Amino acid sequence: MTGIQLPSYLDQDEKTRARLDRLKQREVILEVNNLTKVFDSPQGRITALKNVSFKTHRREFVCIIGPSGCGKSTLVRMLAGLESITSGEILLDGEPKLEPGPDRGMVFQGYTLFPWLTVKKNVMFGLQMQGRSKSQAESEAMQWVEMVGLSKFANHYPQQLSGGMKQRVAIARALANQPRILLMDEPFGALDAQTRAKMQASLFDIWRNIDITICFITHDLDEAIYLADRILVLKAHPGEVQELIEVPVPRPRNPEQFISPEFLATKKRLEELIHPPVSDKEEEPFQLIRMARAGDEVENGLESVE
Ligand SMILES: Nc1ncnc2c1ncn2[C@@H]1O[C@H](COP(=O)(O)OP(=O)(O)O)[C@@H](O)[C@H]1O
Ligand SMILES: [Mg+2]
Repeated sequence: MTGIQLPSYLDQDEKTRARLDRLKQREVILEVNNLTKVFDSPQGRITALKNVSFKTHRREFVCIIGPSGCGKSTLVRMLAGLESITSGEILLDGEPKLEPGPDRGMVFQGYTLFPWLTVKKNVMFGLQMQGRSKSQAESEAMQWVEMVGLSKFANHYPQQLSGGMKQRVAIARALANQPRILLMDEPFGALDAQTRAKMQASLFDIWRNIDITICFITHDLDEAIYLADRILVLKAHPGEVQELIEVPVPRPRNPEQFISPEFLATKKRLEELIHPPVSDKEEEPFQLIRMARAGDEVENGLESVE
């Protein structure tokens, strides 16, 4: 039997190549140079990230993927200014960034809304912090609430919302400050598959309609391929860049592409990078252990099949 012949993940059709070429000509929004993070913990020093470098262009959708513990959250927290840098630099529009600021919006996996504020007031909060009057903040907030499809829920409190709706509010709240870049750390990781698919589609619509660059962390291969222009693949211990993959799947995207040859070729490449074959130096896969005593076999239907 012959397997399905997939193209190489490096093959791009003409339109896709032209789109990615145009993307790489656009101005650089985020530049990360030799970023390293070492934690001093009671167990010793942990190099969470080592010499990570990449560039993200204006209106690019970049996904960052890698196995658990490879430093994805550490990286995004450093980008947000929430974690100190051991060495290296982070430039936003060419300016070094060490502290949090409204130029970077953040959406985490866990729900981080203020539970005592309504949807509208959660979104207004940052705007008022930036000095907008109450009425100005209110009218701007309502535009964002509408954009994420929650107008009818503007006066609801977070505990009255589903998980997907809470993440919509978190996105509206992050975008209301009109950041240069939206940083998302596994934002849909806690949602069921159907809600997740809807959220991906909504995020796409928003991204297409406004001037925003998105840096999206996920450990879900399908999600990364479906969303990204390019995927930065990290490895663990220490967290280092393995490859920056240009996704060959044409835009606009749709769920039917999940089984297209270029999608599957990209997935195969990600599998190779993220789940390499187990070498004999590492732990062994589970073994099927026969617990039955001699003589039990026929009784348990476990007779030999040689
Ligand atoms: N505050 C901390 N103190 C010590 N070690 C940490 C801290 N935060 C993260 N680490 C370690 O850094 C590595 C990367 O963690 P993390 O960024 O959470 O990975 P990921 O998000 O990819 O799963 C892990 O080995 C983790 O144990
Ligand atoms: Mg994480």
